[in-house]
Amino acid sequence: MSIIQWRESYNTGVEQFDREHHKIVELIDVLYTCVRDKREGSKITEAIAALVEYTGYHFDNEEQAMAQADYPDLEAHQDEHRRLKEQALEFQAIGENIEREKVTEFYQFLRGWLVDHIVECDKKYGEFLAK
Ligand SMILES: [Fe+2]
Repeated sequence: MSIIQWRESYNTGVEQFDREHHKIVELIDVLYTCVRDKREGSKITEAIAALVEYTGYHFDNEEQAMAQADYPDLEAHQDEHRRLKEQALEFQAIGENIEREKVTEFYQFLRGWLVDHIVECDKKYGEFLAK
């Protein structure tokens, strides 16, 4: 069971990015499952690293598509991405001895961020790119 219930309203209309958003949801679930099943610290750092890596890849793809389309809000959107990356790297830097509560805080934060970001920002480029 996923900790994020995907809603129709989260779809941006850009197939590639919707697919990538689903992948991020999956990776948040992996992290959540690690905490729930009390997996060892190395599994948690692996799950965090996978999230950091994949979101970086996804943000680059989004930014490239927006740049190619001369998307007017590109800079503001990049700032949002940058903020998330900084926060994620802070969590990653804690390393294997990260407390379970911290990890919980992290995936809850990610869940909130992802949903807000998709609804507030990503849907706008979706509408723009569709034109
Ligand atoms: Fe985005």
